[in-house]
Amino acid sequence: MLMLSFQENMHRVFLPLLLVALVRSQDTCLSSEEEPYLLFGTKTAYIFAHKGLSNNNRAHEVPGCKPIAFWLMNRHGSHNPESNEIKELQNLEKLKDNIILNYRNHNLRNSNHRMCPADVNLLERWLWNPRHNQTFAGDLTSDGYMSTQQLAQAWRQKYPGLLTDNRHDYLFRFSNYQRSSTTFRAFTEGLFKTQADGIDLPKENDEKHIRPYKFCNTWVNNVEQNNETLTQRETFESSLEYKQMVTNVSQRLGFNYDMEPQVVRNMYQMCAYNKAWDVTQISPWCAVFSHEDLKRLEYAEDLEAYYKYGYGSDLNEKVGCVYIKDMMAFFQKHIDNESIKRPRVSVLMAEAAGILLALRASNAYRPTSPLTAETYPGGNSRWSSSTMAPYNANFAAILYKCTLNGKFQINDKYQVLFLENEKPISFEGCRVGLCDWSRVNTLFANVVNSCDLKACNVATRGGPCVAIILMIVVLILKITRL
Ligand SMILES: *[C@@H]1O[C@H](CO)[C@@H](O)[C@H](O)[C@H]1NC(C)=O
Ligand SMILES: *[C@@H]1O[C@H](CO)[C@@H](O)[C@H](O)[C@H]1NC(C)=O
Ligand SMILES: *[C@@H]1O[C@H](CO)[C@@H](O)[C@H](O)[C@H]1NC(C)=O
Ligand SMILES: *[C@@H]1O[C@H](CO)[C@@H](O)[C@H](O)[C@H]1NC(C)=O
Repeated sequence: MLMLSFQENMHRVFLPLLLVALVRSQDTCLSSEEEPYLLFGTKTAYIFAHKGLSNNNRAHEVPGCKPIAFWLMNRHGSHNPESNEIKELQNLEKLKDNIILNYRNHNLRNSNHRMCPADVNLLERWLWNPRHNQTFAGDLTSDGYMSTQQLAQAWRQKYPGLLTDNRHDYLFRFSNYQRSSTTFRAFTEGLFKTQADGIDLPKENDEKHIRPYKFCNTWVNNVEQNNETLTQRETFESSLEYKQMVTNVSQRLGFNYDMEPQVVRNMYQMCAYNKAWDVTQISPWCAVFSHEDLKRLEYAEDLEAYYKYGYGSDLNEKVGCVYIKDMMAFFQKHIDNESIKRPRVSVLMAEAAGILLALRASNAYRPTSPLTAETYPGGNSRWSSSTMAPYNANFAAILYKCTLNGKFQINDKYQVLFLENEKPISFEGCRVGLCDWSRVNTLFANVVNSCDLKACNVATRGGPCVAIILMIVVLILKITRL
């Protein structure tokens, strides 16, 4: 209301002045961008990451071959804010009030950057959803549920002969927490078009298989929890390019000083969540950022994910190998004895970490040079968490049995097709994602044969010291006994 009367007065009294000001200040309406930037790292909605894929769900045919086994890692869909995010994101309510106050007070450090009235109105209507509290923290959203169902249906349409109604053909793996078990429910509901709760489906929840990284102490200490993992991200965030983004955003919102980088990140997270929860809605928090701003924020996300789960650390291969080993063993069993028909379909409900670690171990999307703070822009053109691990990300391998009659240029009776987010992964020596079984063995021999998780129990930095102290204690004890 205040807004309206303010504008009315302006029109009556200052219209000519206002026009001059408008022409000068070129308010930018970022909410009405025709092609908004929608890649937000691991919080990207599947359809935005998926762009360019012809949206057909026709059966996937490989001439001369018949699919005999299907292995899939499937990430959950969008979820509520995590418990450690809720407080910060809820604080955006106060920030919103400040921004609107800035706007009303004509608080302009630089009149070339400022939100347009439509964007301010949009922001004014934004409310924090009280359901996003600790009780429901991290839970799969209803949108996440539906997108998972749809994906399961799409797989079924692509592999009708393999993904049948026969429940005994399947093996499902998922964790016991809400996001994973609900994803299992959504996925099976999509497959079988009926609630799976009452049905006895073959399932496992061996966490060591589902989230091997959680059990790898060396990885947890030296990679996940090690702040050196964040060095490149932090370097990038203290670069001029990043700081300029913070300045531009602060100016646009009417602040006379640069906002805290963490506050800018909170707005970014809220924008990403909003676009994942409802891909058709315009988020006022996205309208705070320009294309260029969003690309910088995405790159910072990539720098973190690359060192935690990608090629940035050698340990990542040692952990991700568990998934590749599982896939190879699954296919080998079918090849060794074709009368073993079950399970033909293995589906693992994964997290972004699992998907990225598995891709790391498979050596897919290896960038030509490492991602660093200095390789912006473009450093992430090959390795990008937005396109590799969006919500509902999936990594699939399908084993085919082929007839070798020379008609289809197939050299090996068994072929494997690799798909990531339904698109072929190009491995060296393969054709558009399709590899001879012998080639697959060559590609993954090293990673599978050395996959013993020995690296996970190597004493960490404190280890040698502790050992030496223990030896001294033992010596002293022996001496005193003598
Ligand atoms: C979260 O919200 C729901 C529904 O509004 C409510 O029932 C629940 O008690 C709330 N939980 C907490 C921890 O506030
Ligand atoms: C790592 O993080 C801890 C806790 O935030 C901090 O105390 C420590 O100084 C950091 N170490 C380095 C090398 O940045
Ligand atoms: C910030 O604004 C300046 C001045 O308009 C512009 O040159 C620069 O490219 C902007 N930076 C970003 C990150 O958008
Ligand atoms: C293959 O599996 C079937 C069913 O489990 C079993 O009866 C048969 O002995 C196996 N054949 C070989 C060669 O291992």
